[in-house]
Amino acid sequence: MTLIEQLQQLHQVIAAEAEQITSADDAEAFRLRHLVKKGTIQACVEQMRSVAKEDKPVVGKLLNQVRDLAEQALERARDQFSRSASVEPLDVTLPGRGVSAGAIHPITQTVDRLVEIFTSMGFDVAEGPDVEDDAHNFEHLNFAPDHPARDMQDTFFVDVPGRDDVLLRTHTSSVQVRVMQNMKPPIRCIMPGRVYRNEAVSARSLAEFHQIEGLYIDRGVSMADLKGTIMAFARRFYDAHAEFRFRTSYFPFTEPSCEIDMSCFLCKGNGCRICKHSGWLEICGAGMVHPNVLRACGIDPDEYSGFAFGFGVERVVLMLTGIDDIRLLYENDVRVIGQFTP
Ligand code: DAH
Repeated sequence: MTLIEQLQQLHQVIAAEAEQITSADDAEAFRLRHLVKKGTIQACVEQMRSVAKEDKPVVGKLLNQVRDLAEQALERARDQFSRSASVEPLDVTLPGRGVSAGAIHPITQTVDRLVEIFTSMGFDVAEGPDVEDDAHNFEHLNFAPDHPARDMQDTFFVDVPGRDDVLLRTHTSSVQVRVMQNMKPPIRCIMPGRVYRNEAVSARSLAEFHQIEGLYIDRGVSMADLKGTIMAFARRFYDAHAEFRFRTSYFPFTEPSCEIDMSCFLCKGNGCRICKHSGWLEICGAGMVHPNVLRACGIDPDEYSGFAFGFGVERVVLMLTGIDDIRLLYENDVRVIGQFTP
C-alpha cells in the first residue's frame, strides 16, 4: 500500500472513530492511538522520507489534513466530555444557601450615634494619633511631673531609641491639646478614639477601649453652657425625661471639675440592675478647661474660656445593651455582636 493509500484509509478511520467518542476516556484513547509520538500519524510522517520528491507536496498536504482532522476531533471531544464530567447534577429542589448580612459592631454603632447627635449640635469631629508623647497626653494637660497617672502601672510606654516620652495615649484628652494648638477659637469639637491603659482585663475593664472627648472654647463660655450641652445631649441620646446630678470632682486639666450623673433610663431612678440599684448612671467627667491648659496650648485664658468632657464608649454600650461582661464586645462572636441593630 502506498503512503497515499495509507493516509486515505487513516482519514476514514479517524473520521469514523471521532464519531464514536462518548467519554473523556474514549478521547484519551483516541489521542494515544493517533496523536502521540508512537501514534499512527507520526508513523506516516516518518515514511515521508522515502516519498519521491515530486510526490511530496501532495502527500504532505494529505498528511496535514489527516492531522487537522484528528486534532479537531480531539479538541471537540475534550470540550464536550471534560466539561460535562466535572459538572455535578443539579438538584433544583434543594433549599438555597442563605446570604447573611453583616452587622455594624455595637461600639461603632454607638460612636456613630454619639457623633451624629454632637455634630447636629454644632460640634466638629477631630482625631489624633494613638501613639503620643508625654507633652500631649500629660504635660500640657497640667499633670504635675510626679502625677501618679504617669506611672508605669497605668501607661504603656513605647520603645523609641533616644526617647523616653513616647506612649500609647491613656485618654482622648490628648486630642484636645492638638486641637487647641492648631485651631483658633471658637472651637467646638468632639474627639472619638481608642485609648490604652496597662490594666488587668476583667468583666469591667480592658487594656484597650474607646473614649469620646468634647471641647468648647470661646469668649464667655461658662459652666451653664457645659450643663446645658450635656443635658441636651443626654436627653436626646438616653432619655427625654432624664434628671441630672453634678458632683464635684478632680481632674488636673479642668477647674472646677465635676462628674455628671443621670437618672437611670431603665428604672427612672427607682433602682435596677443597670444602675446597680442606685437610681443614677454616671455619664461623663467634665469641667472648665484649666487656665494652665489654655496657656500651654497657645490660647489666652484672659480672653477665652471653655469646657471639656470625656467618657468611655464601652460603658455606654454596656448600659444600653445590658451586656454585663465588657470582654464580650471584643470576642467578635457574631451570635453576640450581631444582635444589635442600629
Ligand atoms: N480624660 C478623663 C479620663 O480619661 C476623662 C475626662 C474627664 C475628660 C474630664 C475631660 C474632662 O475632658 O473634662 O478619665
